[in-house]
Amino acid sequence: MEQIYNRIWELAKPHYQKGRPMDIDHIEWMMQAAEEVCNKENLDKTLFVPLVILHDVGYSKVKDPKDNSYKLDIRKAHMKAGAELSEQILKQLNFDPKKTEKIAHYVSIHDNWALGDNESYLKDPLLGAFNDLDFMWMATPKGFLALMKMLNKSSAEMLDYLVNNDKLTQRPWSNPSTQELFNRYIHDRQKQIKAEAI
Ligand SMILES: [Fe+2]
Ligand SMILES: [Fe+2]
Repeated sequence: MEQIYNRIWELAKPHYQKGRPMDIDHIEWMMQAAEEVCNKENLDKTLFVPLVILHDVGYSKVKDPKDNSYKLDIRKAHMKAGAELSEQILKQLNFDPKKTEKIAHYVSIHDNWALGDNESYLKDPLLGAFNDLDFMWMATPKGFLALMKMLNKSSAEMLDYLVNNDKLTQRPWSNPSTQELFNRYIHDRQKQIKAEAI
């Protein structure tokens, strides 16, 4: 990971520590997955990686970060606060002003699918790939466990939630790399659930 991304992460992390308990793991997994996907799919890393690092930073500013982040008012609030914090952090690092503006905009709309907007993700490959990874985290070992707790589901129910999720039809995989990665994680979770049942 290049120096600048580590510096963004250093400034963002204290905010995440005040936000949702699972988000440090969420972002750390997304950062390494983002590197891999950018290299394979030729996405602009200088926008994609900062977006990944900063996108949920606004949970530190919502009333109760441990409250259900599926609630719409909390979703809206974390996007708005997150865009402001992203701008502050990137300015502090003298990041390119045009890119800063773009990243802050992406942060301000990153969860707009929850408000009924799927179009933005279909039109923009960068936002599409971002949404793929944001969703996919729930299929990784740590994300799967964190979401089971948050949504109060068994492992079988959690798997069912992922493979029958609206995301897969409303905002289908934006590129072959994210699709392939998801299939691998789902395969691993299926194996894990079978092993638990023995
Ligand atoms: Fe979010
Ligand atoms: Fe997220």
